[in-house]
Amino acid sequence: MARNKIALVGAGNIGGTLAMLAGLKELGDVVLFDIAEGTPQGKALDIAEASPVEGFDARMVGSNDYAAIKDADVVIVTAGVARKPGMSRDDLIGINTKVMKSVGEGIKNNCPNAFVICITNPLDVMVGVLQRAAGLPTNKVVGMAGVLDSARFRYFLAEEFNVSVEDVTAFVLGGHGDTMVPLVRYSAVAGIPVPDLIEMGWSTQDKIDQIVQRTRDGGAEIVGLLKTGSAFYAPASSAIEMADSYLKDKRKLLPCAAYVDGAYGLDGLYVGVPVIIGENGVEKVVEIKLNDDEQAMLDHSVKAVQDLNDVVAKMEAEGA
Ligand code: APR
Repeated sequence: MARNKIALVGAGNIGGTLAMLAGLKELGDVVLFDIAEGTPQGKALDIAEASPVEGFDARMVGSNDYAAIKDADVVIVTAGVARKPGMSRDDLIGINTKVMKSVGEGIKNNCPNAFVICITNPLDVMVGVLQRAAGLPTNKVVGMAGVLDSARFRYFLAEEFNVSVEDVTAFVLGGHGDTMVPLVRYSAVAGIPVPDLIEMGWSTQDKIDQIVQRTRDGGAEIVGLLKTGSAFYAPASSAIEMADSYLKDKRKLLPCAAYVDGAYGLDGLYVGVPVIIGENGVEKVVEIKLNDDEQAMLDHSVKAVQDLNDVVAKMEAEGA
């Protein structure tokens, strides 16, 4: 049986890490595409040369021609500009909207049956631009943010409770920005909800509140440390989990920026919600029960995403 084909549009920090992980996990053959000449070719060759040592079989190709992504099963998009210290994800909107339109065109012309995962920021808005430009059904285009935000939350909780990261489950909903909604009630250690663990004396409400805030600022913390770019290892791992769930029809329940029309009182908008990812892409948007506080935080986050969508709509109306 032919191997799956994974196209990575953008061969920068996240793109290169995605290629390495896809190889290590033998998810399929990999094509790296970028507008920068030599970068995708160089990274593809470098990773291919690691394959005999690591013991994986995967063809690694780099290209500056969209024809190379022809018939890809999965496309992961990181093309665009990453933020620098002092910038918010929203500051990237003008340039990355243009990039998403050209990438969407490339996908439409070469692999209209692919499952597409967008990582480019500001995420919730960019995934919508990409979906419209590619003309793919909404269940086949999703954004990666919730898996990353939840992974950060899980890591901080595991540190606080001094338990294995594998035992910690957590949920972060809403837009991928300062208004994201880490859901403490739905976070647990081996099934024991965090509020119960506070009652058991494992932590305090104050410490959990600090962890929630650190999760919200998780991206900025890395940008502040790196100074020259944004996070790339954890974002790449997170997108690979989504691709794996699709390719192997694992039906994992993952928080993703998905198109929500009806659930959560929303009317056709990409935002972070729990979804099941299987062979058809987004198989189902899972509507969990929120209490009044959680709903208010989600509404606030949705409003922030809607405001950015309005900025893009205005730019488009002005012909930008
Ligand atoms: N088409 C294809 N590739 C492009 C285009 C384009 N129109 N414009 C830029 N690129 C490429 C750049 O040449 C670069 O190699 O996108 C790559 C981006 O890589 P990095 O700058 O290393 O950024 P990275 O850390 O990988 O993040 C990419 O993900 O998390 C988000 O905010 C982040 O939007 C950013 C994206």
